[in-house]
Order: sequence, then structure tokens, then C-alpha cells
Amino acid sequence: MKLYAFYFSPTGGTKKVLDIICSAWDCQTEWMDLSDLPKTGFPVSFRETDLYIVAVPSFSGRVPQFIVPILQRLQGNQAKAILISTYGNRAFDDTLLELKDTMEQAGFLCYCAAVTRHSVMPRYGAGRPGAEDKKELKRFAVQCRELLKQPFTPIGVPGSRPYRTYGSIPVKPRADKCCMDCGLCYQKCPVHAIPGDHYRTCDANVCISCLQCITVCPQKARHVNRFILKAAEITMRKTCSGRKPNQFGPYVLQNCRALIMTLSKNYPAAF
Ligand SMILES: Cc1cc2nc3c(=O)[nH]c(=O)nc-3n(C[C@H](O)[C@H](O)[C@H](O)COP(=O)(O)O)c2cc1C
Repeated sequence: MKLYAFYFSPTGGTKKVLDIICSAWDCQTEWMDLSDLPKTGFPVSFRETDLYIVAVPSFSGRVPQFIVPILQRLQGNQAKAILISTYGNRAFDDTLLELKDTMEQAGFLCYCAAVTRHSVMPRYGAGRPGAEDKKELKRFAVQCRELLKQPFTPIGVPGSRPYRTYGSIPVKPRADKCCMDCGLCYQKCPVHAIPGDHYRTCDANVCISCLQCITVCPQKARHVNRFILKAAEITMRKTCSGRKPNQFGPYVLQNCRALIMTLSKNYPAAF
């Protein structure tokens, strides 16, 4: 069996979650950054015996839209797949469902929605994934490994259709005078929002606010407007506060159900 790990992780949280999950497998792993895939070419086809994991951040409760046509070009061939959505302590809404619908040709094994710190407003979900999350993610990965040995049954994932409306946010990074015009942000921008002749700006209509350009800048020269950020933080306070759970399924949930059934049989008075 070969393990393919596909991810988009502009600020590193999604990759962190994927690293934890993949560490439970003891097999050859091929790592693929979805934002590089159009440049590096596609391993278009999988075998039924392969396993692939796709991990994306939830943007506006959806799959970041530039990824959809990339995923549509992967030929699942009923290879087993695990879906992962990270989210910044608000909600992942329809991200997993859209991921599943997009990767039609795979045999979906399990899913996980993991909380990370919010990439735009890092005070929400701060410090996550933390030690407790790591334990949960590892347990999930081990259970997926066990599930692979059993006959395959199709799964449903949370979410509803039509999907939540995909919205953009007014957070558009620009470079200050520390910019050395190295062009790395231009090369790494997944949607080509940074003009080739003027790296310090970005096309606000094209930019998806993923902040990959800030992550890759060796000079730390790119920033977003802090007043806009502050306003966004205040607006989102209600929906992003508190500790949101990681969600796993369906295997972990089935285990819970089995446990509840056993308990209710043995201790009927308690239920
Ligand atoms: C444009 C944008 C939209 C986002 N929308 C949501 C959202 O709807 N719900 C949520 O909980 N987090 C949201 N987030 C936070 C990310 O899903 C979260 O921080 C994710 O882990 C970032 O992944 P990364 O660290 O791999 O870049 C959004 C982040 C960005 C940049």
C-alpha cells in the first residue's frame, strides 16, 4: 500500500494536523502540496490498494475554491480516502461534504474536522492543535488503520447542499519597504494574485486571503491591515469563542454507539 498525503496549508496548521495523522502509518508516504500540483503535474491515477488523505482548511465553511478543479483531476479509482478539514474555531460547515462530492471516485473511509488556530485571527483556536488534540488525532489515525483491514462500507459526512455561500474577506496582504523583491510570494501565491511586475501589491479581486505570501516571505515584509483585523476579530468574537471540538467519523462515532449500547444493556437504569 502507498499513502498519498495531499494538502493545502498556507499558514501551516493543516500540515501540522496531517503530520500527526500520517505518523500513525508505517508505509511510504508521498507528500503533495495542492497549490503546487498544477506546476508539478498530476499523479492522476490511484490503485484500489492505495490510501490517500486530503487535508484542506475550511474557508468560509467551504473548500478553498481554487482546489476544486485540482481535486477533480485526481482519479480515485476507488482507492480509499480520508478527508480532513481544519477550521479556525468557528465551524467547518460544508467543507467535508464539498470535499467528498468533489472527489467522487474515491472510496471514503473516514473523516476528521480538526481545530487549529485561526490563520487570520490567531487569538481564536490559539495553541491548537495542542496535546489533547494530538492524542485524539493519533487515536483517529490508528482507528483508520484498523478500519482499512475491514470490508469497506460507504460513509456519509456532515454538511448540507446547497453549500454555504462562499464569501471573501477584506484581508489582502501587502509588502512594506523591507521587501527585497525576491518574488517568492509571487511564485507561491496559489491564485496568482500578485503581479509579476510589482510584488508588493496584490489584486484584491483575485486574492483569497490565504496568507501563504506572508508565510513564505523571508523578510517578513508582508502584512495585513491591523485595523481591519481588529474589526474582524470583534465581529467574530461570538462565533469563534470557546473551545470547539474536533470531529471524527464514522468509525469513532460507531465505537461510541457500540459503547452506549453495551452500557445501556448492562446498566439500563442509567439511560
Ligand atoms: C479566507 C479564510 C476563511 C476562513 N474561514 C473559516 C471558517 O469559515 N470557519 C473557521 O472555523 N475557520 C475559518 N478560517 C480559518 C482556517 O480554516 C484555519 O485557520 C485553518 O486551519 C488554516 O489552515 P492553515 O494553517 O493550514 O493555513 C478561515 C481562514 C481564511 C484564511
